Amino acid sequence: MSVYPVIMSQTNFVHRDDLTYPYEERGLQFGDGVYEVIRIYNGKYYLLNEHVNRLFRSAEAIKIELPFTRKEITNLLQKLLEKNSMTTDGKLYLQASRGSAPREHTFPADVPANVYAYMEDFPRNLKNLSDGVSTITQRDVRWENCYIKSLNLLPNVIAKQEAKENGSYEAILHKDGVITECSSSNVYLVKDGKVYTHPTTNNILHGCVRMRIEKFTRDYNIPLIEEAFSISDISAADELFLSSSTSEVLPIVKVDNDTIGNGRPGKITTRLQEAYELDANLIKHKV
Ligand code: PDD
Repeated sequence: MSVYPVIMSQTNFVHRDDLTYPYEERGLQFGDGVYEVIRIYNGKYYLLNEHVNRLFRSAEAIKIELPFTRKEITNLLQKLLEKNSMTTDGKLYLQASRGSAPREHTFPADVPANVYAYMEDFPRNLKNLSDGVSTITQRDVRWENCYIKSLNLLPNVIAKQEAKENGSYEAILHKDGVITECSSSNVYLVKDGKVYTHPTTNNILHGCVRMRIEKFTRDYNIPLIEEAFSISDISAADELFLSSSTSEVLPIVKVDNDTIGNGRPGKITTRLQEAYELDANLIKHKV
């Protein structure tokens, strides 16, 4: 695994060994910040504008002033790729917190946001993409502003750990039986040729990959219905899949003890995977 030595800190670049953080830092002490994870394929960002726009939406929602414009951060992130000579498949992590100040719940006055971003190798998981993954259901105990990509991920961390301990890949979250999304991805159900997914209310993150899936379904004339489905709909589903920048369009073949369809990725999921690969300029993988 390559180590990419250069990190973006504020609006400068530093070596990763030279980045230090104070202990009184609001991201560390309060989770008072926002973040993005951006996929890199063949040394290029995928859906960069979508991620940058969402970063600004999240920051604005919690009143963090970012120290750059959309154009400036886009240029900085492009420079970061170049400075790291990144040419393969990877992912970028970017975080912006309310800054460093003595610990006090209320916002500090005149303190600049702390921002950093770094990249790492992240190869595609072709086996999961071809075979699908198993999942469990878990109660969605998060707050009511899940459209903000906030650093507060404790409920997500606990739900995903539960999935891992059950030998599963992801946790599908539900509020009183109504499916919202997964711990770190959006989720979709296919029934009779139609794709169902939770509407983009405050209860879910509007995924950048989901935005593309909205386009793919239009391109392929697949009805996408933004209507939440329930745990009780799952056992009769034809297909189920999830989406995120790290998981792409990923078939779900098992939920708790229910096998979905015939236990193999379904037709519509496979078609959307192909659309994703075309969109991201990827070489087709064997399904
Ligand atoms: N998670 N929903 C949640 C709760 C997420 O955390 C994510 C992404 C998504 C999908 O968003 P996108 O398509 O923009 O990646 C949906 C990232 C990958 C993470 O936290 O690592």
